[in-house]
Amino acid sequence: MAEGQQISTDSIFKEFKEYSAAEFFKKNRQMLGFTGPIRSMTTIIHEYVTNSIDACESGGILPDIIVKIDKYGPDAYEIMVQDNGPGMPEKIVGKALGQLLAGTKFHGNKQSRGQQGIGASYCTVYSQITTGKPTHVITGTDEGLITEMDVSVDVKKNAPKIENKKTYKGEFRGTKVTTKFKEVQYTKGANGPLEYLRRTAIANPHCEIKFYDPEGARVTFPRTSRLLPKLPKGVLPHPKGTTTDDLVSMARTTPARKVSSMLKMHFSRMGDTKLKEIQQQIPFDLEISPKNLTWKEAEDIVKAVKEIKFMAPEMDAVIPIGREHIEKSVLKIVNPEVVYTSDRPPKAYRGGVPFIIEVALAYGGGAGKGESEETSSVEILRFANRVPLLFDTGGCALTKAVNSIDWKRYGLKGLEKLPLTVFVNISSVYVPYTGAGKQAVSDEEEIFNEIRFALMDAGRKIDRYVRGKAREAIKAEKKRTLERYMPEVVNVLVNVAKANKKEMTQNLEEMIIETLKMDESDEAEETDEIADDMDGEINAEE
Ligand SMILES: Nc1ncnc2c1ncn2[C@@H]1O[C@H](COP(=O)(O)OP(=O)(O)O)[C@@H](O)[C@H]1O
Ligand SMILES: [Mg+2]
Repeated sequence: MAEGQQISTDSIFKEFKEYSAAEFFKKNRQMLGFTGPIRSMTTIIHEYVTNSIDACESGGILPDIIVKIDKYGPDAYEIMVQDNGPGMPEKIVGKALGQLLAGTKFHGNKQSRGQQGIGASYCTVYSQITTGKPTHVITGTDEGLITEMDVSVDVKKNAPKIENKKTYKGEFRGTKVTTKFKEVQYTKGANGPLEYLRRTAIANPHCEIKFYDPEGARVTFPRTSRLLPKLPKGVLPHPKGTTTDDLVSMARTTPARKVSSMLKMHFSRMGDTKLKEIQQQIPFDLEISPKNLTWKEAEDIVKAVKEIKFMAPEMDAVIPIGREHIEKSVLKIVNPEVVYTSDRPPKAYRGGVPFIIEVALAYGGGAGKGESEETSSVEILRFANRVPLLFDTGGCALTKAVNSIDWKRYGLKGLEKLPLTVFVNISSVYVPYTGAGKQAVSDEEEIFNEIRFALMDAGRKIDRYVRGKAREAIKAEKKRTLERYMPEVVNVLVNVAKANKKEMTQNLEEMIIETLKMDESDEAEETDEIADDMDGEINAEE
């Protein structure tokens, strides 16, 4: 362009437009896990299945979930997910599946699998942009009303478009979503739907999951527990987790008349004593109206809160799986020789967000990747709020914590080649994912450390077992060697020293048994010493 030939401001800003969340994610599908056909397929299964389990749990129903994948063209699949949950009221269905950033979970401050109100509705978008087809929903509620409709998203407006709606009386209770997709691909591999569902079953022993693959084969993961997880309580946020912006927006909408009562109303652990302590640290009166709270004043409050000690956050907002349940389902589904679990008391990260870590180490038998113990290698199963995380392995705090352990200390040399399955689950009201695709947990120091402590604890248990097993093998080998040479030794003694053959054999057999016993007591002492050492290590690190 020649110099001096300027373009007018007006003509540049003719192009200034608004766009909707649906348009944004239509362009940025990778942010939601839609990268490549294999991952996209697993993401779709994940979105529908997590919604189904969330819905059943919130309705107090033991989840029965059916997943069916049919192939209807070279790269075209129809996916059906059905649950026996509470269903959706007719008025909600369209928004639930046809509008992004809409749902029942965003404002609850409760632990759930979904958080953002994007999952299922984005599947609707992905279906329509790859096949041009709407999503078919059938949903039945406890009032005996069934609603059926085709939903798509008006991407420009981020609003649902509903067609072919029917409402009728019937018995079905739950939700069945059927959607066609292209640019997806089914795989039987470790990143595919079957593996995703297997892991879901491990972390959700109260679910029954039936899966029909595109070839028509059926796999059932039966439930190993009839106990529904406790319903999470919605709790008030902890003061330590708040920001200046949170306070300012709160001040604009709160029904409270004073800043002091606003703080008490919207935060946990905020009593009169704490308010007094805050008051002492700030230059204005907490009795002012929230309407008048300035940015600077909100900043002062946040600063004061950082310096004051508060009681730990309310921990009953976090619902772990439970060691007993993990053990049962790992034994059933992974089918190892042994499994050792460990959990930790709830802790908080970023000062105010409670979380709990649970781990399991499964060894031998079906544990590890690969077909047999010989070809096996370690398998790391990561979960957040019981949802399997299959992708972004390297960038995840859970993987990093597992890899940071010195496994040799626990009798596990050459980790890559061991028949070992490592299970890690983080439960939290707010899991700090690294992105909207929710496949990796960010590197919070408290989370990283808690995982390490839990793994070291389980590691010590497995250590005893692995060493015991190694000892058995050595003993068996020694016994075999001694027994192999015994007849020759007996023959020599009989010929040379004219000993009695029967007596001699008996004496030697007793000697072998005694020798092996002596070995055993030596090793027991050694193992105890190692265990003591490790107690020292764990206490020192804590
Ligand atoms: N199977 C289902 N049963 C009942 N309600 C559902 C089901 N699937 C989705 N919903 C409703 O639709 C909303 C939006 O779902 P989604 O877009 O996946 O976002 P999120 O799960 O993050 O809330 C949910 O919050 C829920 O209220
Ligand atoms: Mg969801």
